[in-house]
Amino acid sequence: MSRIKKDDLLNVAVEAALASSNIIMEASSKPRVAGHKGVTDLVTDTDMKSEETIKAIIRSFYSEHSILAEETGKDSNISDYLWIIDPLDGTTNFVHGYPSYAVSIGLFYKKAPLIGVVLEMPNMKLYTAIKDQGAWCEGEKIESSNTNNIKRSLLVTGFGYEHSENWEKNMRLFKCLTDDTQGVRRLGAAAIDICHVAKGYADGFWEYDLKPWDTAAGILIAKEAGCVITDLSGDRFDINDNNILITNGHIHQDMVNSIKRYLN
Ligand code: IPD
Ligand code: CA
Ligand code: CA
Repeated sequence: MSRIKKDDLLNVAVEAALASSNIIMEASSKPRVAGHKGVTDLVTDTDMKSEETIKAIIRSFYSEHSILAEETGKDSNISDYLWIIDPLDGTTNFVHGYPSYAVSIGLFYKKAPLIGVVLEMPNMKLYTAIKDQGAWCEGEKIESSNTNNIKRSLLVTGFGYEHSENWEKNMRLFKCLTDDTQGVRRLGAAAIDICHVAKGYADGFWEYDLKPWDTAAGILIAKEAGCVITDLSGDRFDINDNNILITNGHIHQDMVNSIKRYLN
């Protein structure tokens, strides 16, 4: 059991997310200059400033906790508490002015998710969760959808920057699952995609090659909203796994079966 009150930890995560959103929203109305981490993998000054701000706020409260952040990596602290930060999820959207990006802050305690905060921008929707206490969006408890037939489902996915073998597999799934369902969306910010399944806007999400900071906060929000989370084979998901499947639970086994069929 965490010795620090969960509400206090959540408040710090929310404070950090709001501070980060001020930086991101201010930058969104100015010219945005992107550098490249890979051919299509962009990074901006805003990613860096947001990360610096989030880390400074967390450190001002909990200097002994560990932090893993996308742009600066893991610090040298050894602690049961690990904050996992994506300072700007959906950087490509942000650079182009496509209105879907987020900040994602997850806290793990003894390797298990304890707190999750995703702030969706520019519409400023705050998603939060505390382990065993439910998931919330803008102060209202959220639950995943009731859709129990894959044919009536709406799915969402994403594609990593590397056009690898997994990318090819995902293209195949995108095509086949588009045929099987009422549609598959591809919006470009994994943390938001996951929260949309938690909120019941979509019934399922899958992706390959995500990193811990893409999913750390979202998986708790989804779980607390009633979602089922596994890898694409239906086995237990670990934060370091390179593929993930999140559904409302009702269509989970059908999704696993379909994925198996389409990948063979
Ligand atoms: C990316 C987004 C995107 C997903 C990529 C991620 P970034 O994160 O979440 O939806 O498809 O795999 O890397 O680079 O914008 O933080
Ligand atoms: Ca990301
Ligand atoms: Ca990012």
